[in-house]
Amino acid sequence: MGVRLIVVGAQWGDEGKGKVVDLLAETFDVVARYQGGHNAGHTVRVNGVERVFHLLPSAILHPGKICVLGNGMVINPKAFNDEIGEINCDGRLFVSDRAHLIMPWHKELERARSCYGKDGIGTTQRGIGPAYVSKSARTGYRICDVAGQFGDLWARLRKDLQEANEELLDHNVGPLPGTCLNDFHGEVQQLKPFVADTSLLINKAIRKGKSVLFEGAQGTMLDIDHGTYPYVTSSNTAAGGACTGIGVAPTLITGTIGVVKAYTTRVGGGPFPTELDDNIGAYLQKRGREVGASTGRTRRCGWFDAVVVRQAIMLNNFNALALTKLDVLDDLPGIKVCVGYLLDGSESCQIPARTEDLARCQPVWQTVPGWLTSTRGITHFSKLPYQAQKYIRLIEELCDVPVKIVSTGPERNETIVRRNVEPFGWMDDIQVGKVAVA
Ligand code: IMP
Repeated sequence: MGVRLIVVGAQWGDEGKGKVVDLLAETFDVVARYQGGHNAGHTVRVNGVERVFHLLPSAILHPGKICVLGNGMVINPKAFNDEIGEINCDGRLFVSDRAHLIMPWHKELERARSCYGKDGIGTTQRGIGPAYVSKSARTGYRICDVAGQFGDLWARLRKDLQEANEELLDHNVGPLPGTCLNDFHGEVQQLKPFVADTSLLINKAIRKGKSVLFEGAQGTMLDIDHGTYPYVTSSNTAAGGACTGIGVAPTLITGTIGVVKAYTTRVGGGPFPTELDDNIGAYLQKRGREVGASTGRTRRCGWFDAVVVRQAIMLNNFNALALTKLDVLDDLPGIKVCVGYLLDGSESCQIPARTEDLARCQPVWQTVPGWLTSTRGITHFSKLPYQAQKYIRLIEELCDVPVKIVSTGPERNETIVRRNVEPFGWMDDIQVGKVAVA
């Protein structure tokens, strides 16, 4: 049986999942996304050339890999067609017939409803939330609904457009023209050749012994159920979402890997206990090039928060961690790690359920010396400066999960795979210098 591995972000997204998935993809037959839509921004850099994927699995550049967009995703057909562009993905890219569509009015409604704006959740404004609202309200459009002749569907589309326009007018936003439905129809026609029953496809592949990598988008703290609600995305980003978002049984999952940045970032609104509003925050932002890959927004930066990562470990039961952007900390003389929270005079190691309470949490710090030397491009753990090794060991100790992969730069080959660290013996075969990209 091949390995069935879920890769999940352990913080608020942007942990570097694109690079980790790209690295692991070589050893997998199928790579599947299970939630979200083109709100994601997965950056892959090979030989100095950077590609950002919003909708397609990061493995699409690997020739011959089967790539799947699962039923748990919301698909904007135009974004899908634009992203494929020149990539040769014939016969190996499949979109679930049960995935919901982001309709032309979803983005406009999101822009009009103030709760999503920059003084509220601060969403990516791609229509993700309203599309999931339609899904839950059971008024959405699945890909299978539009995959045949439009026929009677035109009447339903016109009625829904009219209703959306009425709401837009209530918000003093100009109505969408009827031609948006013709454009939508055109985009859907282009999407059709990729539509498949992807749950069936993946379950068949698993039965044949193929390996499957489930690629999470966003991060655990943005999970609609377990994240910092309401400052979350509208899907289940945590590992459980992979089973429902693809249609595979939990008993078929081999394990999970958590991707975690050596510090913390978050985009949009919401509490962030270790946030740095000082020159160190500005340094992390600049040195780490912390600008949203989807929206171009500056990411908020702060120290590593072990409370957040431990919560993600509990929710996802990570077998191993991939630690990214270690090199960003190279020039700092001292590094802080949040090891607990102080709330109303009591120390806690848990994330409180109420967002207002999380906003009041004060971090309990542990400060460690920096290493003040470059780790950029180091590929062996033993070659890391002693204090950097100690920092990684501290994270392992606080999280009680081994750090199996360490990223020391954006390039694919700027990576350490710790070959003598369990689990996942098969990962020892990963050749970090190997570039087999289309
Ligand atoms: P939405 O997913 O566009 O509805 O945005 C909801 C929240 O999730 C906002 O705070 C976004 O900034 C955040 N978010 C959505 N996608 C990403 C991502 O790929 N990385 C980081 N944050 C994200």
